Amino acid sequence: MKKVVIIIILSFSTSIRVFSQDKVDQCLECHEAIGDQPSTLFKNDIHQTKGITCSDCHGGDSTSDDMEKAMSKTSGFIGVPKGDNVSKVCTNCHSNAQIMVKRYNSALPWNQGDLLAQSVHGRLSISGKERIVKCTTCHNTHGIVSVKDPSSPIYPVNLPKTCAKCHSDAKYMRTYNPALPVDQLDKYRTSEHGILNAKGDAKVAECASCHGSHEIRSAKDVKSKVYAINLPRTCSTCHSNPNYMRGYKIPSDQFEKYSNSVHGKLLLEKNDFNAPACNDCHGNHSATPPGVESISKVCGTCHALNSELFASSPHKKAFDQRRLPECETCHGNHEIITATDKLLGVQNGAVCKWCHGDKPESKAFQTAKFMRELRDSLVSEDKNALLLINEAEQKGIEISDAKFKLRDAKQALFESRTMVHSFDRSKFQEVIDKGLNVTSTVSEDASNAIEDYFFRRWGLGVSSLIITIVAISLYLYIRKIERRQKSTV
Ligand code: HEC
Ligand code: HEC
Ligand code: HEC
Ligand code: HEC
Ligand code: HEC
Ligand code: HEC
Ligand code: HEC
Ligand code: HEC
Ligand code: HEC
Ligand code: HEC
Ligand code: HEC
Repeated sequence: MKKVVIIIILSFSTSIRVFSQDKVDQCLECHEAIGDQPSTLFKNDIHQTKGITCSDCHGGDSTSDDMEKAMSKTSGFIGVPKGDNVSKVCTNCHSNAQIMVKRYNSALPWNQGDLLAQSVHGRLSISGKERIVKCTTCHNTHGIVSVKDPSSPIYPVNLPKTCAKCHSDAKYMRTYNPALPVDQLDKYRTSEHGILNAKGDAKVAECASCHGSHEIRSAKDVKSKVYAINLPRTCSTCHSNPNYMRGYKIPSDQFEKYSNSVHGKLLLEKNDFNAPACNDCHGNHSATPPGVESISKVCGTCHALNSELFASSPHKKAFDQRRLPECETCHGNHEIITATDKLLGVQNGAVCKWCHGDKPESKAFQTAKFMRELRDSLVSEDKNALLLINEAEQKGIEISDAKFKLRDAKQALFESRTMVHSFDRSKFQEVIDKGLNVTSTVSEDASNAIEDYFFRRWGLGVSSLIITIVAISLYLYIRKIERRQKSTV
């Protein structure tokens, strides 16, 4: 029955040929008549519009209407490519500048094959026989359209689903790497990017904007676009481009500010991975600004103590009620700079003054003022102790024990910087007092040593004076005796 249908179709298609021109693609003609999927899809294929025929990929003789002849091995027919031969079919053209430029006058890059081979997806698949992905995994096989066409599987709005075919398939992914999460799409859909993308916005970030397309690498690979030191620039390709971001109601200064911050300088200039990149504060796939009440948790992943102290301070409730972004209100977000004691107190430039400056009688004002005074006293006592130590050292006094002890005062000074976040007088004072105890012991030790030194110098002076006097009197006495002896002779 099937054979009969085919034969009828064949004779039908042959009769059409009689009326058509010489350059007819016989492969397409006959397959269209069969009405199979490849030929149906191929009608909208970008390759079809460039004059490419079925035989450019499958081989064979596209001028012959004879099925046997058209699809014979002798005319180069390769049948249905399998495994890595699929990609090879594509790279025969796409990795060949000669063909792409000379024959098709194309301005497209011709590096997709090389990039893919070096990418994480170019590794051998579990079967051990072929790479993890083929060109057709992302672009389809027949019915390939321009990457800018909204029906393309890699068009920004469709891409997340294309990647998630594998990456959200827990069973499949487990066979490769059980440690790899499979929640990227779910998380992405909770982000501002993912929400707008689902509504058809093709400009927000999707998987390929952050990871690349053919060149995707493991997040741990230094060449990956999402590797910590590369990531801020990946985000900034959009976020620092005012033209691109026009129409959205957010600034485009995040990267500029970030690269001037303590965090940005550490990461980008010193390659110190302890500092946060954009994703450490915004999440990888759930890139959303942290809500005002959760900022301290974000900062707290690294500044744990500051965050804990803040959470149990009077500011936690006060800030949340007024919808003041937690740490950000005092430190900023992207432009965070070194926090010095200038921020503390009620003088001009101090952050406490912003909110408490106009109520000198309030507990908050008094606390701010008190903290600053305590801090200043520790700083100056520390300086005094150091001066005494220096004086002692210049006199050649061995004082390394006291010098070593003074490090505890520095430590207390350091702790007090963090303890500010308790916004609590007595907790703060406790730390400062610890420091003051050290400075006073060290100062005392150093003063004693110096006194000792003077005492000993004085003692030495007196004894040498006595010795000199005795020596001189002895001398004079001897001379006297000598003279007496001479006169008696
Ligand atoms: C006169 C009709 C006709 C012409 C011309 C023709 N084909 Fe076919 N082709 C068929 C039929 C019918 C089948 C299905 C045969 C089968 O199922 O065994 C087929 C099967 C195929 C297959 C699948 C083979 C497989 O192993 O599953 C490919 C690929 C193919 N054709 C490509 C081509 C190409 C490329 C050309 C031109 C060079 C071409 N065909 C020309 C009728 C034709
Ligand atoms: C751009 C290259 C390319 C062109 C052009 C192309 N094919 Fe294919 N075709 C492939 C590849 C690659 C496969 C292997 C399927 C896969 O793994 O994705 C395939 C598979 C097939 C298959 C078997 C599997 C299936 O999908 O049914 C048939 C039949 C087929 N092609 C027919 C055709 C016909 C007919 C034409 C022209 C109308 C054509 N192809 C044009 C690349 C091409
Ligand atoms: C993991 C998915 C994926 C695979 C696999 C893939 N591509 Fe792409 N390709 C894309 C995306 C996404 C784009 C969109 C432009 C971009 O971001 O580079 C693209 C763009 C293209 C373009 C347009 C020009 C360009 O480079 O931007 C061509 C041509 C292309 N791919 C060919 C190929 C070929 C050939 C292969 C196989 C060697 C392949 N692709 C494999 C995802 C993929
Ligand atoms: C015979 C050569 C040839 C083969 C084989 C071939 N292509 Fe192409 N491809 C082209 C040409 C030519 C263009 C159009 C280039 C242009 O518009 O500048 C193109 C365009 C594309 C585009 C659209 C790029 C854009 O402009 O957005 C994609 C995607 C693509 N090819 C993927 C593939 C895939 C996947 C395969 C293998 C299944 C393949 N090609 C096989 C020659 C080929
Ligand atoms: C055919 C299934 C498949 C598709 C489609 C696919 N991937 Fe993958 N991808 C994998 C597998 C499998 C691995 C794991 C490789 C390994 O760890 O050895 C992987 C690894 C990755 C990694 C590296 C993870 C890491 O840090 O180790 C990233 C990033 C990635 N894919 C992103 C994407 C993106 C973006 C897309 C869509 C453009 C995509 N993938 C499409 C199968 C796929
Ligand atoms: C806004 C940028 C961005 C977007 C959009 C994005 N990713 Fe990621 N992706 C990242 C970052 C950053 C990492 C983690 C890097 C690290 O671990 O340091 C990551 C990690 C990954 C990993 C490694 C495993 C993991 O989850 O840590 C995979 C796989 C992955 N992404 C796939 C995807 C897929 C699939 C999509 C689309 C649904 C996507 N990504 C969208 C930025 C992005
Ligand atoms: C392809 C361009 C592009 C890339 C790459 C990109 N974004 Fe976006 N992002 C956008 C657009 C467009 C918006 C939508 C602006 C809006 O919310 O109206 C957006 C929104 C955001 C928002 C929400 C802003 C708000 O308040 O509404 C955050 C946070 C964000 N991006 C962070 C990131 C981070 C972090 C990265 C890098 C890991 C990144 N983006 C990469 C284009 C991009
Ligand atoms: C130290 C943490 C941190 C780092 C690092 C960080 N951000 Fe932010 N970002 C924030 C906070 C906090 C907000 C504001 C949230 C709020 O007030 O609701 C924010 C807001 C945003 C917004 C919303 C619009 C705006 O400017 O207010 C975007 C977009 C954004 N960040 C992108 C980025 C990009 C891109 C990077 C990397 C260059 C980055 N962020 C690095 C913490 C950070
Ligand atoms: C009410 C204002 C205010 C808020 C809110 C605030 N800080 Fe501070 N922060 C300061 C002041 C003032 C200093 C400087 C202390 C000093 O040097 O005396 C400081 C110093 C710091 C330092 C440097 C000292 C150290 O501990 O290493 C870090 C880090 C810091 N803050 C992080 C945070 C984090 C994280 C949050 C949110 C949990 C936060 N801050 C909330 C005012 C604030
Ligand atoms: C990924 C870890 C990480 C995250 C998240 C992070 N930081 Fe930092 N931060 C650091 C490192 C590392 C330093 C530099 C070392 C230091 O001085 O403590 C630093 C330095 C600082 C300083 C300057 C400290 C000083 O000595 O003057 C302040 C203030 C600060 N961060 C505030 C914040 C705030 C506010 C947030 C949240 C919006 C935040 N950080 C998020 C790691 C982080
Ligand atoms: C953004 C505004 C803001 C800044 C900046 C700020 N505070 Fe406050 N603070 C408040 C609010 C609001 C409250 C609760 C209501 C009140 O007592 O005024 C509060 C309460 C307090 C309290 C508790 C007062 C009580 O009656 O129990 C103390 C102590 C305090 N702040 C100290 C400080 C110190 C020290 C600084 C500087 C490091 C500072 N605050 C910076 C807004 C701020």
